[in-house]
Amino acid sequence: QKDGFRFFMEKEIYEQSDVVSDCMLGRLKDEEILFDEIDKSLIDGINEIKICACGTSYHAGLTSSYLFERLAKVKCNVEIASEFRYKEPLLTKDTLFIVISQSGETADTLEALKMAKNAGLKSLVICNVDNSSMTRTANNTILTRAGIEKGVASTKAFSTQTVVLWMLALYFAKAKNVISKEKLQSEIHALREVPKSLKVLDKVHEKARRLSKRYLHGHGFFFIGRDVFFPLALEGALKLKEISYLHAEGYPAGEMKHGPIALADPELFTIALMPENLLYDKIKSNVEELSARDSTICAISPLDFELADDFIKTCKTDHYMLEFFEMLVVLQLLSMEISIRLGNDVDMPRNLAKSVTVE
Ligand code: F6R
Repeated sequence: QKDGFRFFMEKEIYEQSDVVSDCMLGRLKDEEILFDEIDKSLIDGINEIKICACGTSYHAGLTSSYLFERLAKVKCNVEIASEFRYKEPLLTKDTLFIVISQSGETADTLEALKMAKNAGLKSLVICNVDNSSMTRTANNTILTRAGIEKGVASTKAFSTQTVVLWMLALYFAKAKNVISKEKLQSEIHALREVPKSLKVLDKVHEKARRLSKRYLHGHGFFFIGRDVFFPLALEGALKLKEISYLHAEGYPAGEMKHGPIALADPELFTIALMPENLLYDKIKSNVEELSARDSTICAISPLDFELADDFIKTCKTDHYMLEFFEMLVVLQLLSMEISIRLGNDVDMPRNLAKSVTVE
């Protein structure tokens, strides 16, 4: 039931605007965020958040670490579950342990959750599947309400996870009394605009389709961004790798000069995430350096950028997270169109399974 779409992934990209609305339903009030499903005392005595996840869910976690620290003023660190399990981590009881998983079945994430529970930590699972192994294990669950995700490459699960985590950061901020009323209202206002930012615009899809034919060869891709656009860069690179089998890496833009820029040449494509509302001048100078070394630049930005070889224009907004979601859609479409042009099976890429239940 692809409803006229070529692949489930395409359908799921187009569904994001609606499922994110479902995800916020009943949870957004004018001046507060409600999560009736979690214990009222969940954040009492919590001084730190530890997030564990894998793959795309890890990228949602990494994105939220910027939001938790910025909005809720709570220390937050994020780990890949398979690393966390064997590092003999130090766990303290003032830490809230959050796991993020579309399926609720990923073996490493489930095991990390059990370790935290055994250590006596409060835990929360952000999950898309009710009654999964993780939701049965955790003390508290927030469901992402994305609906069944069939494409192996995760799309709508990621956008709903990120929205839940953004809301959770605000929920924390309000409970800890570290956010002004005006700031909270403006964040809630921005959250309400997310469905609009996730709507696929014909002209953006068409642009991605046209650009895709320029990017079938070459020796690789850099996806670069700063702040929350760094995890978004990781996610863009992962999507492309998974379904196109092309080599792609996501980097924090400021790291380029510490090594990766040595790879720059015209056959190295840089996908630059250049939001207007966050560190624009910083990312611009990072991209200029890559351009000076002859990397082919594809800029994604609401602002014109004269050095770009290719350009995908996003809409003007007044919040960087709205730019984040717009750029997410662009990255998803671009990787899908490249994969289609290469003749790959977009929904069932080689070597991958939808749910990784062995470590
Ligand atoms: C990427 C993707 C994987 C999953 C990862 C975790 O598109 O789908 O990277 O995100 O295997 O899966 P969940 O979220 O089910 O724990």
